[in-house]
Amino acid sequence: MIRSYTDYPLQKHHTFGTNATTKYYFEFTETEDLQGFLAASKEWSNWPILILGEGSNMLFVTDFPGLIINPNVPGIRIVHEDRNNIWLEVGSGVVWDDLVEFAVFNRWGGIENLSLIPGKVGAAAVQNIGAYGMEIQNQIESVTGFDLETQTEYTLEASECQYAYRDSIFKNQLKNRFIITSVVFKLDKFPEFILNYGDLKAETEKLGAINLRNIRKTVISIRESKLPDPKVAGNAGSFFKNPIIESLLAEQLRATFPNMPHYPAPEGKTKLAAGWLIEQCGWKGFRRGDAGVHEKQALVLVNYGNATGKEIYDLSEEIKQSVQQKFGVELEREVNVIGE
Ligand code: EPU
Repeated sequence: MIRSYTDYPLQKHHTFGTNATTKYYFEFTETEDLQGFLAASKEWSNWPILILGEGSNMLFVTDFPGLIINPNVPGIRIVHEDRNNIWLEVGSGVVWDDLVEFAVFNRWGGIENLSLIPGKVGAAAVQNIGAYGMEIQNQIESVTGFDLETQTEYTLEASECQYAYRDSIFKNQLKNRFIITSVVFKLDKFPEFILNYGDLKAETEKLGAINLRNIRKTVISIRESKLPDPKVAGNAGSFFKNPIIESLLAEQLRATFPNMPHYPAPEGKTKLAAGWLIEQCGWKGFRRGDAGVHEKQALVLVNYGNATGKEIYDLSEEIKQSVQQKFGVELEREVNVIGE
């Protein structure tokens, strides 16, 4: 199945829900259809390209002057199984939380802490989604897609994907070039639960037994209590990454701000909580027109109705500057900005 449009409105294709259009839009469910589309015209090779899933991590400041490709490949298929593990090949267009629900229902562990994260499977593999002590890179076995530059389809093993905190090869060398069509996940039949983040263990215990179903329920209720539903108020989850800084600088900051949350990060560095930094600058619950900062989680910027992408972007710039001024820490956007 393909869908192909010119001058196409994107409001329903990204979770901030601001007005924007794209010059061309192409959605497909079979890789052959993509190949057919690309072969039919070489015009696209001069256009800017954007690969878009559910648009849960996008901010359109301007219209998009090129071609948006949406790989909406369906399907979950068991590819291999042994005593301890099961390998699932999942289409990039599968809604991420549908996969988590399916895994938990079948009692396969490894992604339950990632319940209710918006977006689709392809984007999950691009972003290395993470929450409550779990990161998807640990469960990804391989990623298959179509490379627009070489015009070939190939598979990358997880070790080739350059995974790091909210980062991967798909956000760097292969950005808007490698169109992910499927991902193979390795799940555990006898999972070890990861419950050491915040109140996760205590909250799950309140439901009775600690099992996949109850962990999923707890994560969902924690997320629902803290994070706005994009269907109610447009947002893209965390707008910024949690900054990773030199530990010496973190120690200096802690001398002035003893309550500052801090976590160990790779290479002996320290990760700070961007939400805390932003809240300390007085932004939590701030609203100007329809652009605002969520009242329960300062890391989330919100479109309360008719905010423009530019208004949200300008607010994010002000937030960046005030965090820089107060803490000397540079915030990096997690959200992909179009038209910056
Ligand atoms: N905090 C504040 N004020 C705030 C928000 C947070 O003081 O407004 C403090 C909290 O009290 C806590 C610390 O900051 O001490 C961390 O907060 P939280 O547990 O809410 O997590 P986070 O670091 O703000 C990250 C992810 C979320 C993920 C949660 C849970 C990033 C950029 N964000 O947020 O992911 O759900 O951990 O694991 O890493 C997303 O990427 O869209 C997202 C929601």
